[in-house]
Amino acid sequence: MANHNRPVETGRYLVTGGAGFIGANFVHLLMERYPQAKVTVLDKLTYAGNPKNLDPVRDKAGFRFVQGDISDESLVTPLIAEGFDFVINFAAETHVDRSIGDPASFVTTDVFGVYRLLEAVKAHPVSLFVQISTDEVYGEVMEGASTEEAPLMPRNPYAASKAGGDRLAYSYYATYGIPVVVTRCSNNYGPYQYPEKLMPLFITNAIDDEPLPVYGSGKNTRDWIHVRDHAAAILTICGADGVEGEIYNIGADTEKNVLEVADRLLHHTGKPASLLKQVVDRPGHDRRYQVDWTKLNRATGWKPEVEFEAGVQQTVEWYQAHEDWWRPLKSGEFLDYYKKNYKFLPEEKGK
Ligand code: NAD
Ligand code: TYD
Repeated sequence: MANHNRPVETGRYLVTGGAGFIGANFVHLLMERYPQAKVTVLDKLTYAGNPKNLDPVRDKAGFRFVQGDISDESLVTPLIAEGFDFVINFAAETHVDRSIGDPASFVTTDVFGVYRLLEAVKAHPVSLFVQISTDEVYGEVMEGASTEEAPLMPRNPYAASKAGGDRLAYSYYATYGIPVVVTRCSNNYGPYQYPEKLMPLFITNAIDDEPLPVYGSGKNTRDWIHVRDHAAAILTICGADGVEGEIYNIGADTEKNVLEVADRLLHHTGKPASLLKQVVDRPGHDRRYQVDWTKLNRATGWKPEVEFEAGVQQTVEWYQAHEDWWRPLKSGEFLDYYKKNYKFLPEEKGK
């Protein structure tokens, strides 16, 4: 189902947010699969962006890094005017807890930044604009799985800002005919994830025998997908026919609650369950997300390949082997955020 009008193998790719977790893993896969591709990463290098995430591709022919903000017209317009086949927008503020404390940067980057990119591709056409959205735009789904037609009911400022960017991108397809595709993936895990998110936080805390802060009951569930499966889905979409104007859910049907995830992380780090500590729940904490990704599977044949237990084991091993990557991140601003964000609850007697 390859689209021969789009030069997936030799094309010019602009990957925004490519120094972050998923963007970097995507760039690694892209350059591994298509060594002839020309890849420009545009990234602001916020606290979550890390030039080290691009070390595996830095010296490859065809790779270039540009530091800058997707909301900055004076940078974005001339850059996109250079000519790209694909613009893939991973750039975003991404952490729900931070969006609760300070939503401003979420609205700026996740809505206004998307607008800037869309205006630039309107003036300088591309073959495909991929807006990386999220399953969180559907809000919590207490049973079943959201199809692409389900209503959007985002419940926190991160999810709401992403819903804004998601629909704005679609509007540029419907109104101006820009070749936009929107993807909504479930929770990713894997190497290079900033250690504020559940898996890398719990793994690195466990390595240091620090408490693992569980929000509320620990029964909130997510669908966990390995980041390489997400990256492969995006590459598949880049090469597929008829994706313009479409939305594709991406998921793995691996529903686990926080306590179930923590159990596997403790098992693979060899640490005791006594590290689990309850903290005051996140306000507006969505209880469950689940997407139905049959539309993408039917259209392209893509399906997730990394089995949860093996993926989690590999992920734990990666953080164990890369302390030089994550230790410097758990300092300074991160520790201030951590102290402010978590309120540990007193332990019940007898526990
Ligand atoms: P991340 O926080 O690890 O990385 C985000 C990157 O964007 C960072 O490198 C950061 O420096 C960059 N960035 C932020 N603001 C920018 C700006 N104004 N201009 C340019 N660059 C900027 O996030 P991630 O987990 O890799 O998520 C990537 C994308 O995937 C996001 O759009 C997110 O909403 C989406 N997504 C994430 C998940 C998940 O589980 N992590 C699931 C579904 C969708
Ligand atoms: P997170 O990684 O922040 O992703 P999401 O965007 O889905 O909220 O959190 C995943 C789940 O783990 C979510 O139910 C909140 C929970 N969680 C904790 O219990 N403790 C933590 O320290 C973190 C970061 C998350």
